[in-house]
Amino acid sequence: MKMKTNDRLIIFDTTLRDGEQSPGASLNGGEKLEIAFQLSRLGVDVIEAGFPIASPGDFEAVNQIAKKVRGPEICGLARCTKGDIDAAWKAVEPSKKPRIHVFIATSDIHLEKKLQMSQSQVLERISQMVSYAKKYCDNIDFSPEDAVRSDFQFLSKAIQTAIEAGATTINVPDTVGYAMPFEFGPMIKRLMMGIPGSEKAIFSVHCHNDLGLAVANSLSAVQNGARQVECTINGIGERAGNASMEEIVMSIKTRKDLFDVRTNIHTAEFYRASRLVSRLTGMQVQPNKAIVGANAFSHESGIHQDGVIKFRQTYEIMTPQSVGVPSSSLVLGKLSGRNALAKRLKDLGHVLAGKKLDAVFSKFKVLADKKKYVFDEDILTLVEEGEEGRQENFKLEFMQINSGTGIVPTATVRVSVKGKSFQEAAVGDGPVDAVYKAIDKITRIPVKLVDYKLSAVSGGKDAQGEVTVQVEMGTGQTARGKGASTDIIEASAKAYISALNRIRGGKIIKAPKTLAGERV
Ligand code: KIV
Ligand code: ZN
Repeated sequence: MKMKTNDRLIIFDTTLRDGEQSPGASLNGGEKLEIAFQLSRLGVDVIEAGFPIASPGDFEAVNQIAKKVRGPEICGLARCTKGDIDAAWKAVEPSKKPRIHVFIATSDIHLEKKLQMSQSQVLERISQMVSYAKKYCDNIDFSPEDAVRSDFQFLSKAIQTAIEAGATTINVPDTVGYAMPFEFGPMIKRLMMGIPGSEKAIFSVHCHNDLGLAVANSLSAVQNGARQVECTINGIGERAGNASMEEIVMSIKTRKDLFDVRTNIHTAEFYRASRLVSRLTGMQVQPNKAIVGANAFSHESGIHQDGVIKFRQTYEIMTPQSVGVPSSSLVLGKLSGRNALAKRLKDLGHVLAGKKLDAVFSKFKVLADKKKYVFDEDILTLVEEGEEGRQENFKLEFMQINSGTGIVPTATVRVSVKGKSFQEAAVGDGPVDAVYKAIDKITRIPVKLVDYKLSAVSGGKDAQGEVTVQVEMGTGQTARGKGASTDIIEASAKAYISALNRIRGGKIIKAPKTLAGERV
């Protein structure tokens, strides 16, 4: 058998490329860089930082990551065209470890309906473009898009052509999430065993989750010889998403009795990575999500609680600490000092000092005055809010609500727009509607609210509410935002403003002029 088998599984993260293709999840350059630093801390082997030809913004983000992030290989995606490959190379060139990922579809349906190319034309294009990319960079990843629905013989030919042209990684995508685990793994093995020269490349997989099988398919491929998996934090990605990195890595770690591979991932960084990606993309993690969901380590039934108290392993196959989930124990209160906060923050993975610590400490004091117990989740929310504040066009300064049974809900809101304060009042169907209408009068960005979710940050009646919203522009562009407060109307206002700040470029369609309300 000509299979390349070693025990290292390469973790190729595509949160910043395929993950960013999740509807409404667009990230700006600074946010991408922040996630890339966390991915490096996590120990991923490859960061697919974006699709450089797609937009100047994406090019710049990939380029900045290539310049500033050390550790992982930095990869840029390219279709099989010279323009795409030139852009991908220019963007990743500053990295110490650059990689170019070229792809072209190989299924009949894509060839006929999308590319309008024959099989021989596709083979010729693969040969030419992989060779072209190879002139720039030794490290070439090739993907036959929609591999699972491709004719097996043609797929094998396409892969062989890419290897002959110099591809060092062959990534087999289940682009539409169609495969079953019991066919996908064996398919990878057949490809590896049947293609002449296959031992020259590392075989990789990229699974989508349309049938909820992305992780199962990836693991089946690993058992059958794949030595790279493409995956994302929280499983975000096009449509139903990609295979979730934390689920793949923890499966392999927890069931090392079944898998002959190891990864370089520092699993205790998963929780932090998950929260960061959720906050910056605005995509909430479902409570029952494996590994990083709020309920992943909570035991509700009496029998389970009794078992866990007696011996944790009765109902836990991994520890919360192993993936960086905080203990959720009650930690600080209003008498806690700056040093106690700094220490707790450090335990949660955030080393803060000087002005940054001062800023979080003053917000902590305000919160501790409002709620008796400040939990780890509350502290993390405070830090994250501070991080968000760096690139705000709009900032909530003040709000007053008049609402109740039998009265018309009214809101007065003051928002600073690029440093200048504006105030407006509005009535609405409810207090949130009134606040949003008042904000709209100030910001004048014509958006529609398409999603609104409210959840509690921690337990208890005095818990902070966390609101996530999604807004949509007439152009179809969407943006998400998050806000937290013990006052859920204020949390709603913060979330809405955070979404408006994230409308691409935070562009103000009509600058606020003399307003009906008081100009401060
Ligand atoms: O799903 C897919 O086929 C892709 C390729 C570009 C790898 O994302
Ligand atoms: Zn994909």
